Amino acid sequence: MSTPVAVLPGQPVAIAPDVHWVGALDPDLRQFDIILRTANGTSYNAYAVRGTDGVAVIDTVKAEFAADFFARLWACCRADEIRAIVLNHLEPDHTGALPELLAAAPQAQVYLSAAALKMLKGIVKDGVDESRLVVVDEDTRVDLGGRSLRFLYTPYLHWPDTQCTWVEEDGLLFSGDVFGCHFCDARLFNDRVGDFRFSFDYYYQHIMRPFREHVLSALDQIEPLPIRLIAPAHGPVLRDAPTSYVRRYRQLATPQLANEAGEHDKTLLVFYISAYGNTARMAQAVRDGAEGVDGVRVSLYDLAGGDAAPFVDLIEEADGLVFGSPTINGDAVKPVWELLSSLTLVKVKGKFGAAFGSYGWSGEAVGLIEDRLRGLKLRVPRPGVKVKLIPTDEELAACTTLGRELAEHLVGRAAPRHIDFTAPGALTA
Ligand code: FEO
Repeated sequence: MSTPVAVLPGQPVAIAPDVHWVGALDPDLRQFDIILRTANGTSYNAYAVRGTDGVAVIDTVKAEFAADFFARLWACCRADEIRAIVLNHLEPDHTGALPELLAAAPQAQVYLSAAALKMLKGIVKDGVDESRLVVVDEDTRVDLGGRSLRFLYTPYLHWPDTQCTWVEEDGLLFSGDVFGCHFCDARLFNDRVGDFRFSFDYYYQHIMRPFREHVLSALDQIEPLPIRLIAPAHGPVLRDAPTSYVRRYRQLATPQLANEAGEHDKTLLVFYISAYGNTARMAQAVRDGAEGVDGVRVSLYDLAGGDAAPFVDLIEEADGLVFGSPTINGDAVKPVWELLSSLTLVKVKGKFGAAFGSYGWSGEAVGLIEDRLRGLKLRVPRPGVKVKLIPTDEELAACTTLGRELAEHLVGRAAPRHIDFTAPGALTA
């Protein structure tokens, strides 16, 4: 196959016979969606697939780049040839040009997931004629004449609506954000562009990682496919060794800790930071209490001595988390918040959590941490321990009990809890 060496203004790029990239390059972007940084900008990849009976357009581009998209699209098809508009994902970086495309090709049917249907009104404010909308499932086939589209149900990668589109005749997977990255290079193909491995992994870590279980389910569907080409929604088109990127996703999404801890062990992480050693002593007592429970592997970390990132890796695979912080100026201290704010990168819902800490006169830190843990949908089965200044032996024993009881929850041996519904916070603890 002969391909151009670079993306040229207004020109589509053939990625397979009668399949063209009609996207847009955004080389100057340095921050995406506020949360992601990119040293190399990004691309908004859209595609046109031609069969003997018509053309399918797979996704569009961010609104500011609509002119680039339409220039390329109209260079490879007429509007009245478009039979299908496939929406693999509704985020505005892929649907910015959709309203104009819908108007330009009024005969085209729109193929989208059931979840996307619910979100479409929020994206296309003027609405879309319902007779044009086709909710797909795994049995849906769009026959373009000589090639057909099928759809893979891959929700939460990284929105509820996300799906992939498969062209069996070409071994071609339009993967949406999956296998994408924010890396703009006009040479377009993975065997031509610069080294983008860091960008690929970074994208996974920040976009897909919180949905690891969904990634693994999607891979179960994708891995058996005889893939010859992956065309993602961002970054290079993966034509050289495309399945190596599938394998990389499998590696990134596979829990590693199972190799370290016993197969049936639960893991409890105790994080603390201490100004005068009081919260540190409490942390040790929490650890001691948890260690007395069979089947629980306990680790203790002083946040004064580490960055958040490696701790996030540990937290992703842990079963329980305990945070200890002194109260300074009515709040938990910054290293604790830095770690807690990093937890949006991983799935923590359903893990067990608790808090403790020493304080001088007000002691808000423990409650604030517990609120954050609940906000992240951790289970906080018992109230934390607050100690005024130096912990007594009795107060250290309360910390030991906290550790032990939390560990018992991890292994399913916690004593039944009696709730006093008249107590403040009884229904949220
Ligand atoms: Fe590239 Fe989730 O949009």
